[in-house]
Amino acid sequence: MIEQHFGWNGVPFQRHISTNNLYLSEQFKETQARLQFMIQQREFGMLTGYVGAGKTTAIRALRDSLSSSEHVFLYMSDSSLQPRDFYREMLIQLGIEPKFLVNDVKRQFKAALMDIYVNKGRTPIVVIDEAHLLSATMLQEIRFLTNFQIDSLSPLALILVGQPELREKLKISSLEAISQRITTRFHLTGLGEEELASYVSHQLKVVGEEQQIFSTAALREIYKHTKGILRLTNRMCTDCLLDIVIQKQKVVDADTVERVLIDQSY
Ligand SMILES: Nc1ncnc2c1ncn2[C@@H]1O[C@H](COP(=O)(O)OP(=O)(O)OP(=O)(O)O)[C@@H](O)[C@H]1O
Ligand SMILES: [Mg+2]
Repeated sequence: MIEQHFGWNGVPFQRHISTNNLYLSEQFKETQARLQFMIQQREFGMLTGYVGAGKTTAIRALRDSLSSSEHVFLYMSDSSLQPRDFYREMLIQLGIEPKFLVNDVKRQFKAALMDIYVNKGRTPIVVIDEAHLLSATMLQEIRFLTNFQIDSLSPLALILVGQPELREKLKISSLEAISQRITTRFHLTGLGEEELASYVSHQLKVVGEEQQIFSTAALREIYKHTKGILRLTNRMCTDCLLDIVIQKQKVVDADTVERVLIDQSY
């Protein structure tokens, strides 16, 4: 509907935007650079940020930028898993048939990581998304991951991703060992007001729109309500576009945003 109304080659502000079309904010570029460096050093990192700020997308972009001849990327986002399922899931991603008992799968996983690093000369990267939801047992298990070493160097890079409360969670004394080993910490916030305007232009350019169809006043209102949080911004911009399709207008102005705010729950 939006696509036809504007004669675009796609719908902007979509969830599954290809990593080639992402908006590269200063914050985004800095996150990528820091994560890349951390991986090179095979260290431990933590990426936090508010809901919808772009954490998972940043990890998707990181994965797509890594060369598969040098890295093995393992990703988990089901944080309700218990240790045995976690190791099983990791082994399955590596194409290894997991054994049954937790101690066995743990040993298998450790051996697999060593094999990747020592024999294949690649860096295993373990990303645990939604890590703020991890159980105490799983967090203790991560301690094990951060502990095993070869020649005092860890064979893997580990990235914990989650909402800001993850930082608080790791502060408790039994998790001090993990916390101390996290060398790279990065926190994603919303875009600034100017960046939000260029984000909106970027999204429109991706679908073939060269005109600025959101007025300055509309963008100011959108910023006021989203604080530049990308998922909220996407939702609000989409609602505005749908509104002007219905109103048979070509431009999103402050009135459009006002209508959307009344109709939708923000
Ligand atoms: N750099 C970017 N360029 C364009 N769109 C983006 C970018 N980063 C995030 N987005 C958009 O914002 C949405 C929310 O991002 P994402 O799912 O990565 O947030 P999150 O921080 O992982 O949220 P949650 O806390 O709910 O897990 C994505 O669906 C994507 O459409
Ligand atoms: Mg996410």
